[in-house]
Amino acid sequence: MSDVCIYEVGPRDGLQNEPETVSTDAKRELIARLASAGLRRIEVTSFVSPKWIPQLADGDALAASLPDAPGVRYSALVPNEKGYQRFRAAGGASVAAVFLSASETHNRKNVNCSIAEQLERIRPVALRAGADGAGLRAYVSTVCGCPYEGAVAVSAVAELTKRLFDLGATEVSLGDTIGIGVPRQVRDLVRAVSVVAPLEHIALHLHDTYGRALANVDAGFEAGVRTFDSSLAGLGGCPYAPGASGNVATEDVVDLFERSGVATGVDLDALVDTSIWLEDAVLGRALPGRVYRAVRGLREREAQRAEG
Ligand code: HMG
Ligand code: MG
Repeated sequence: MSDVCIYEVGPRDGLQNEPETVSTDAKRELIARLASAGLRRIEVTSFVSPKWIPQLADGDALAASLPDAPGVRYSALVPNEKGYQRFRAAGGASVAAVFLSASETHNRKNVNCSIAEQLERIRPVALRAGADGAGLRAYVSTVCGCPYEGAVAVSAVAELTKRLFDLGATEVSLGDTIGIGVPRQVRDLVRAVSVVAPLEHIALHLHDTYGRALANVDAGFEAGVRTFDSSLAGLGGCPYAPGASGNVATEDVVDLFERSGVATGVDLDALVDTSIWLEDAVLGRALPGRVYRAVRGLREREAQRAEG
C-alpha cells in the first residue's frame, strides 16, 4: 500500500529532450525496470508530430509492445485527434494525456495554436476517450510562470483546470514547466484549484531548473496533493521552454517521502540500479538526480573499500 502516487514521466518527458534518440528496445527495457521498481503509473511516449519530437517517433511501435506489467497503467501524450487515432491503433497505453499551457505564447510555441484552439482540439479527443473507456489525463503547463510572458495568474490556471474537467478529464496535472515556482506559490495554486476540483484528481508536475522542485513537492503534499510526476534521475524538459531542466528526480521524491514516513511503494535501490544502467549503458552522460548521485557515490566508495 502507498500513501502517495509517484507518476513516472521519464520515458516521455525525459527522453523527448535527449539530444540522441534512444532505441525502442532500450525504452522498453527502461519501462520494464521502472515497473518492477514498483512504479504503477508510467508515461511511456508521445503521439505528437515526429517532426516536432523526433526522439519519440517510435511511439506507435513502443506502445504496441509494452512490457506486460500487472497493476501498471501506462499513459501517452496526445495533442489532437490524429494523435488519439495513433494511441488507439497502437494499444498498450490506457490513458491519453492531452495538454495545453496557461500562457498563450508557450501554448503557441508548443502546439502551434492558441489556448482556445487547443481546447477545441482536446474536445473530440475527450469525447472519444470517454466512449472508449480510456483515462484522460490533462496537463496545464506554465502554471508558475511562462518563459516568454513571465507571471501567470492563478485564476487562469484554475479556470483552465475547470474547463478540462468539464471536457471529461479524469485527472489534471499542473506543470511548472520552467521550474520557477516557490512553495508559497504552489500552496496558493493548490488552494485555488481545490475550489474547482477535488484534490485526489490533481497532480503536480514540477521541473527543477532552480533547485526548488523538491520543496515544491513537499508544499504540494502539505496542501493536500497526493500524485506527483517525476522522472528517473531528473531526466527531461520541454524542448519548447528554453533553458528549462528536467523534472524533479524520482529517487529524490521517493527518498523525501519514505524518510517522512509516507509510503511510496517504490524501491529506491531498484531505481538507482536503473539510473546507473541508463547513464552507463544507454545515454553515456551523467544524470543530474541528487539522491541518485549520492547513492551511486556511496556504493562506489564502499566497493573501493571492499577491494582493498
Ligand atoms: P501543426 O503543424 O500545427 O499540425 O502541429 P497540423 O495539424 O497543421 O499538421 C501538420 C502536419 O503534422 C501534418 O502532416 C499532420 O498530419 C502532422 P503533413 O501533412 O505536413 O505531412 N500531424 C501529426 N503527425 C503525427 N502525429 C500527430 C500529428 N498531428 C499533426 N499527432 C502539433 C501541431 C500539435 C502536431 C505539433 O505542434 C506538435 O506535435 N507539438 C508537440 C510538441 C511537444 O510534444 N512538446 C513537448 C511535450 S509538452 C511538455 O513537455 C509539457 C509537459 O511535460 C507538462 C509541463 O512540463 O508543463 C506535458
Ligand atoms: Mg514536463
